[in-house]
Amino acid sequence: MVERIHLPAREERERNLAEAGYNVFNLDARDVFVDLLTDSGTGTMSDSQWAALMTGDESYAGSDSFAELESAVADVMGFSNVVPAHQGRGAENILYTALLDDGDVALNNTHFDTTRAHVANQGAEAVDCPADTAHDPDVDGAFKGNFSIEKARAYVDEHGADSVPVVILTITNNSAAGQPVSVENTRRAAEFAEEIDATFVLDACRFAENAYFVTEREPEFADATVAEVAREQLSYADALVMSGKKDGLVNIGGFVATDDDALYEQVKQLGILYEGFPTYGGMAGRDVAAMAVGLREAVEPGYTEDRIQQVQALGDALAARGVPVFEPVGGHAVYLHADEFLPHVDREAFPGQALVCELYREGGVRAVELGELAFPGADRPELVRMAVPRRTYHKEHVEHVVDTVAAVHDRREEITGLELVDEPAMPEIRHFTAELQPLE
Ligand code: F0G
Repeated sequence: MVERIHLPAREERERNLAEAGYNVFNLDARDVFVDLLTDSGTGTMSDSQWAALMTGDESYAGSDSFAELESAVADVMGFSNVVPAHQGRGAENILYTALLDDGDVALNNTHFDTTRAHVANQGAEAVDCPADTAHDPDVDGAFKGNFSIEKARAYVDEHGADSVPVVILTITNNSAAGQPVSVENTRRAAEFAEEIDATFVLDACRFAENAYFVTEREPEFADATVAEVAREQLSYADALVMSGKKDGLVNIGGFVATDDDALYEQVKQLGILYEGFPTYGGMAGRDVAAMAVGLREAVEPGYTEDRIQQVQALGDALAARGVPVFEPVGGHAVYLHADEFLPHVDREAFPGQALVCELYREGGVRAVELGELAFPGADRPELVRMAVPRRTYHKEHVEHVVDTVAAVHDRREEITGLELVDEPAMPEIRHFTAELQPLE
């Protein structure tokens, strides 16, 4: 499917930004020229997926489309029990409601914002255990997304293991610049979880992209296919939590998968309560059918290579123009170092958000801040993420983005910070709706 895009005039972009409270989540999508806000649900479906939409089975119970999803999850991911959910966070809700209680702790390489919010919603605490190199721009590590077993062990040595019923591994590590996790690290994290008697969960949103990096960077898998690596890596998990909007290659959908029958039963009952009957889980049957096809396409030869090389090309072109890019480039997105880009803007004045606003002002490009606004008070680098939708943009769009970022970089010294005017009650999700204004 093709769609007309439009670049509003500079004065219009200026006005749109002010009306949006300097928060690009509040922009009308029609006023965005190249939309790199997210890779979630924004990709293009294939001919086979559109065909599946047409034959989707809308039966309330026992639909054929669900049988297709079960079969795809079994073949591609290796799990026999599937509880569908309307999207990733719906799956997080039913899984973490089953696994976490008040006062518990979840350990994760890095919690994504909705994961952190769902852990908090159970009265539990989200503790990150990123690799030491995770946020170090000067280290060119192959697997900066890894889970630090040392940090997790230190946490358990200090606080005891009784309060840690869940260990989560997010592949790729979205909140740590989209960096991959090795299969070896997955094995070690699974062993650690077993040792402390915790359920080992893989957040598998970008499992195929992660598997591609493994074939490129982990010598043991140099001759393996993406499909083989995916099966191997996912096999260590007790449960998967999945947003189909990423490597399910669909616009909406998600699920929990597990081979643990007791956990399956619990999650299934919660699914009925919050999502829908367990053969549709908040999705239309046609969307279930399209996701079943998408999961298989995600591990087909050539797909991830093409996808990841497009993201890489964007990162390389920006680095060549002198823009501070997080290295190595992530799977689904290029992350910019906003604090290096705008060293004269204090962290309290939201340099990342200021940069996001300038990208829209300059070229109608929409990116997202992952810094002080998204993670208030956190000890993390100030990043701006440019996430590339799957199978959507051409080389010319990528070139427009490169020219836009380079133009902002050339006039970076004129750029000033922002201040908050209004923010919602839950700090974990404030960046979606907060309103700001330029500092005088
Ligand atoms: N886990 C990870 C690692 C994610 O990146 C996301 C979504 C979710 C869970 C939640 O899934 O959106 O289907 O409810 N990430 C999107 C993003 C929103 O832009 O990175 P969802």
